[in-house]
Amino acid sequence: MDTELTQQPTGGTASKTWSQRFESALHPAIARFNASILFDIELIEYDITGSQAHAKMLAHTGIISPAEGEQLITGLEQIRQEYRQGQFHPGIDAEDVHFAVERRLTEIVGDVGKKLHTARSRNDQVGTDTRLYLRDRIDQIRSQLREFQGVLLNLAERNVETLIPGYTHLQRAQPVSLAHHLLAYFEMLERDWQRLGEIQKRTNISPLGSGALAGTTFPIDRHFTAKELHFDDVYGNSLDGVSDRDFAIEFLCAASLIMVHLSRMSEEIILWASQEFSFVKLKDSCATGSSIMPQKKNPDVPELVRGKTGRVFGHLQALLVLMKGLPLAYNKDLQEDKEALFDSVKTVIACLEAMTILMREGLEFNQNRLGEAVAEDFSNATDVADYLAARGVPFREAYNLVGKVVKTSLAAGKLLKDLSMAEWKELHPAFEADIYDAIAPQRVVAARNSYGGTGFDQVRQAIQRAKSRIA
Ligand code: ARG
Repeated sequence: MDTELTQQPTGGTASKTWSQRFESALHPAIARFNASILFDIELIEYDITGSQAHAKMLAHTGIISPAEGEQLITGLEQIRQEYRQGQFHPGIDAEDVHFAVERRLTEIVGDVGKKLHTARSRNDQVGTDTRLYLRDRIDQIRSQLREFQGVLLNLAERNVETLIPGYTHLQRAQPVSLAHHLLAYFEMLERDWQRLGEIQKRTNISPLGSGALAGTTFPIDRHFTAKELHFDDVYGNSLDGVSDRDFAIEFLCAASLIMVHLSRMSEEIILWASQEFSFVKLKDSCATGSSIMPQKKNPDVPELVRGKTGRVFGHLQALLVLMKGLPLAYNKDLQEDKEALFDSVKTVIACLEAMTILMREGLEFNQNRLGEAVAEDFSNATDVADYLAARGVPFREAYNLVGKVVKTSLAAGKLLKDLSMAEWKELHPAFEADIYDAIAPQRVVAARNSYGGTGFDQVRQAIQRAKSRIA
């Protein structure tokens, strides 16, 4: 950032953008301070597309001639090609992407280029560009979410009957199907996908034609440009049109929630990969070593995802604070929305990509260790209580009885499966020989067959539902 701010203009002295009202040039440090070109260049293709739609509308409404409209559109297309070929490098002197494009257009097509900004302001222009940008990025992120969901679903399908300890308070609680655990994340990502779809609808409204703040004296056709740019609607109030950034904040909320989900998953993988858990092994393609400790294999990917979460939350906070005190309508403060938005978009895209790869090919579940983990504790204690409750003993009474037997077993260094039939009978006469089956891990999980539970039948149904959702 610092280096960017101190970078020198590449285009010589600042060109006069302002009206004759200004007599002297901007102080070079102020020009640098004011400029957004170093980051809003990200919007260039959307700026060009938006300007082409505007030019077409100006010709359509007779505000400029059809020939002039054609010249503008063709000139703008040339800038797009120059940019794509790496031949367009506007400097600080251009101030922002909008001026940079307009200036280059005038170099290409001559004086007619100066007609492009008729009936438009950078205020409605930048709002248009940002919405077009975000609309596209939302499409991209939603398809990444779908891909990630597919990877989780695939992994789930292969692990319906793989058991893993389920936790509450990070204390072993009840064993669950590994597929059930993975599908919990599928559900979170499903909400993320839906949420982004809803936000995209509110993003896809055109502010173009709001002018600087009050509309324009020209007979423009706002619905024409909206249709050209595939917006669903136009802002009904020009002041709101140029100053609304709700869509960006909503996106940052959604991005923050995506990061919450990825970060929780990351935290689990980090725990699972530790020697203490040893539930997963990281494959070499997705792990790194230590420069000093030769035995180390580090979960850098989930750690970085967990770490990057903070910056997205920070950007959300920044934008909320940015907006809260702004009087209507446009204020230059709004230029600050871009880096927050762009960085969040890039962070979410990068994290989704890395986590998808990690889950697809970077982990190996340690089946032996998982099998031991669900057999070596008292996580079947609820099932003993349920056993009695199903035979008429009030649940609370059963719960107290089992608490007692857990205590004596712990003291004797035994697990519930090690109790003799006589010990069970002594605890309660309702116990029969089938208690041993009832507390075996596989049975314990299979038996939780309530809708949405971890029972294998339920998990198989959940997989089918998930499949049809992403089909
Ligand atoms: N670079 C500006 C931004 O990002 C464009 C709009 C400038 N408008 C203005 N009235 N100075 O917000």
